[in-house]
Amino acid sequence: MERNARRRSPMVDCAGRARLMAQRPGMVWLTGLSGSGKSTLAEALEQRLHAAGRHTYLLDGDILRQGLNRDLGFSAEDRSENIRRVGEVGALMVDAGLITIAAFISPFRADRDRVRQLLPERFIEVHVSTPLEVCEERDPKGLYRKARAGELKGFTGIDAPFEAPLAAEVSIDTSVLSVEESVHRICDYMAAAGYIG
Ligand code: ADX
Repeated sequence: MERNARRRSPMVDCAGRARLMAQRPGMVWLTGLSGSGKSTLAEALEQRLHAAGRHTYLLDGDILRQGLNRDLGFSAEDRSENIRRVGEVGALMVDAGLITIAAFISPFRADRDRVRQLLPERFIEVHVSTPLEVCEERDPKGLYRKARAGELKGFTGIDAPFEAPLAAEVSIDTSVLSVEESVHRICDYMAAAGYIG
């Protein structure tokens, strides 16, 4: 937070902006396989928070890869750079006072932990732990089929790794919980941690 603090107007800082918005800013980080339900949950969570009068912003992998991160592919290096940039942008948004929601596969633990370190006391890691078989069965973009056919190399869960969180704040298996139940679970955590009333 400190490194994003601007020097010239010390009266306007993260705490001041948060006070004006009457909320505790933070980052809800959804990590999980492609097709696990991250984007769906992120959108439903944002809608719920917005309806409750919270100031939010949603960062989604599929969208950021069309703009800010369009120069990046899916090598391990590019995925790390993807998450590094999103972490930096997300930290600015949190500093601006927003409850920021991020939905990225973010397969590497070290990358997620670096974002956590950027946001001390303001980072909520949500592991969308839907099993690979279910994600593959859903296959909303037909990418698992292509990966199995060898037409797409380095696909997460097939021939590229996913390092599951060891101590996520929240864990959600969307093959067991409905979208509504899942959002409820995240909101319960946010309420207990003082982000929302
Ligand atoms: S991340 O690994 O760098 O965090 P990100 O969340 O931005 O990934 O983007 C994931 C999306 O990119 C997937 O949902 C899928 O639609 C698409 N995609 C294309 N190629 C791959 C691949 N090799 N592995 C995973 N996802 C891919």
